[in-house]
Amino acid sequence: MPLVARGSQGVLDIVDPPAVASNHGSLAADGDMLATSLADVDLHVAPRFSGSFVAQPATPLATVLANPASFSVNKRAAVSSVVTVATDVEPFVDRLVQWRLDTPGCTDVERPALHLNSAGASLPTKRTVSAITEYIEFEARNGGYEAADLVNDGKAVHGSIARLVHAEGPHEVALAESGRAAWASAFYGIPFQPGDVILTCLIEYGANYVAFLHLRDTKGVKLDMLPHRPDGTVDAAAVGRCLDEHGGRVRAVAVTHVPTHGGIVNPCEAIGREIRRWNEAHSMDPHRRVLYAVDACQSVGQIPIDVADMHCDILSATSRKFLRGPRGVGFVYVRNDVIPVLNPPTLDHYAADWIARDAYRMNATARRLEKWECSVALRLGLGAAVEYALDVGLDTIWTRVRWLAAYLRTKLRAVPGVILRDTGTDLCGIISFSVAGWPAAELRTALQRTYYVNTTVSTVGQARIDLESRQLDDFNRASVHYYNSRDEVDRFVAAIAELASTHPPRVVDSAEV
Ligand SMILES: Cc1ncc(COP(=O)(O)O)c(C=O)c1O
Repeated sequence: MPLVARGSQGVLDIVDPPAVASNHGSLAADGDMLATSLADVDLHVAPRFSGSFVAQPATPLATVLANPASFSVNKRAAVSSVVTVATDVEPFVDRLVQWRLDTPGCTDVERPALHLNSAGASLPTKRTVSAITEYIEFEARNGGYEAADLVNDGKAVHGSIARLVHAEGPHEVALAESGRAAWASAFYGIPFQPGDVILTCLIEYGANYVAFLHLRDTKGVKLDMLPHRPDGTVDAAAVGRCLDEHGGRVRAVAVTHVPTHGGIVNPCEAIGREIRRWNEAHSMDPHRRVLYAVDACQSVGQIPIDVADMHCDILSATSRKFLRGPRGVGFVYVRNDVIPVLNPPTLDHYAADWIARDAYRMNATARRLEKWECSVALRLGLGAAVEYALDVGLDTIWTRVRWLAAYLRTKLRAVPGVILRDTGTDLCGIISFSVAGWPAAELRTALQRTYYVNTTVSTVGQARIDLESRQLDDFNRASVHYYNSRDEVDRFVAAIAELASTHPPRVVDSAEV
């Protein structure tokens, strides 16, 4: 039986999922990115890369479902579109009980909160909580410095992060107190000259954009937009032309992989390939080439990240979101040959050695971006979170996040009054939406107080360029993670359906609460 798939650029809106689940029929996407055919048990995947279709060998669907990780990154991206959207089978459900048992926030019987806010701060595992609390006690018994010596200042976390993002090694990783601080320590270190251009994207995170404006005012740099596709993602194929048009004045391209406010995913690998190609034709000298900075705060921990595949020079993230680490810590990766280029805005005697009364020497590793004082406990907590994510497997996490998000969107779409706000076509675990008649903040409060559902609100100040272009001030945001269950999604959608059919309550003054 033929299956119908609508959409383009990777979005497949499958009309007949049960037939897909039974592995029969043929499937065709009328868009230009995916062409897929499914005949009996054979899944033939032909993703489009950089403008041309690349045919992959036909693969039994059962093999794909059993082991999506066996596909290379590019194939996997296409295959998981099909697997997550086209089947009615919840992936990795056999591991869910263990993941939930490992998560204190999922086993609290007193107050069974439903946490759909991993994009804000996710629920940590017991392993992460123990790493922090046990160390704090260890510190209390041994003394802060002495305890730190015994765990080598928590330096192992640099190695864990390097493995997570496929960096060369720990020397390319620096820690800071947040994702934004980590990003800024590297980005402000780029030696911008007046007239240099920063190119950025529609969904760039608000704090980064403010930094660009600040650099405009303090360093005389210019700010311009990368070319975009109609779906709001950066048009990777047009990046080279855009760099040409700026006549060699572009010093940095800054892209947010996944924004704070929605499910859109920028094609960071394709953008990186185009920048690299342009650099190769002009100069690969890190002092002169276009530097590529990726804000991966919302993608690290939900999407497999490979800095080599992305060809990025800088990549930053925070601990508390999809990585499930503690608050108060973040990290930045800096490509080895770019480290000497970065001149951090502030230095201390840890980032640089004080080698003579009037001289210092900056550390040769990414440590030049760090500060001496830090919370070793939080670093150890982040290390535990990274190791847990690696144990679960980033491919597993991504497959499940996409499945849950697709399931949630499908259910929400069916609720009268719900407006899905996500732009983009290849969507992740952040779902943005509004409910007719409900101001976003009131809906969030009602969800939390009446249904114990944690969600949040995205506002124009977080992503002004994007929201202004859509004439929106705010909307609601729910974010799923792999430890969320299908039942939880159903519970959330039922709450939304109930609220959508009522009017918001009278606004309660905070003094009355
Ligand atoms: C895309 C993005 N970048 C950067 C940040 C900043 O991270 P942090 O709050 O850890 O500084 C956030 C936080 O929401 C974010 O969503």
